[in-house]
Amino acid sequence: MVLQLHKRLMALAGVVMTGYLVFHMLANLSFFSESAFNSFYDFYNAGPIRWLVLIVMVAAIAIHVKAAIKIRKVNANARTVDYAKHDKFKIPALLVTLSVIFLLSFIVIHIIQSLLFDTSVLYSDVTALFQSPLMVLFYLAGLFVLTMHLSHSLANVLQTLGKTSVIYHGAVWAGVLALTGGFASIPLYIYFVMP
Ligand code: HEM
Repeated sequence: MVLQLHKRLMALAGVVMTGYLVFHMLANLSFFSESAFNSFYDFYNAGPIRWLVLIVMVAAIAIHVKAAIKIRKVNANARTVDYAKHDKFKIPALLVTLSVIFLLSFIVIHIIQSLLFDTSVLYSDVTALFQSPLMVLFYLAGLFVLTMHLSHSLANVLQTLGKTSVIYHGAVWAGVLALTGGFASIPLYIYFVMP
């Protein structure tokens, strides 16, 4: 019963975050037109919207992580003896844990960086951030782990809904790649193409 509640909370927070990610990626694509980027973020940063979005996102991340820890604990207590046979391509549990910790650190660092941006010169602050090859690599690594995390978790959601066909899974992969590819296009464009 408690486990079901945590699973539902985790999925709900996941849906909220995925919705935000689609919005954030589309908003960021305006970077390819400096005036469109400036008009959007001038509007976004003018009133309380930005802070409301930030509060909702931090709450969603906290709920998602707390529920994930709880579910893991309950599952670990229920299975004291390991499975005799694992999937051929099972990813080691430690790697999964490390990747999730990295993803969370990436998001926290990105939020701190976004708070340090000077909103009156946001376009040049974003451009300056991605002059650094280290930052480009850090963001690409974060986006890679996000791709894995989203495709895996959305596949699980499909499974729960009974949608197991290849077409659904292909659609999930295409959607996730469009999302993270859209994000990645900005640091790549700044580093490799911008004068
Ligand atoms: C290269 C990719 C990305 C770029 C260029 C980017 C850019 C930005 C910028 C410019 C802001 C500050 C907006 C403002 O001043 O109002 C921001 C905020 C934020 N970003 Fe990103 N972002 C990227 C990827 C991501 C990813 C992958 C996530 C989550 C997994 C994320 C989550 C957030 C959050 C939660 C905020 C604070 C709330 C907000 O201001 O909307 N971003 N990002």
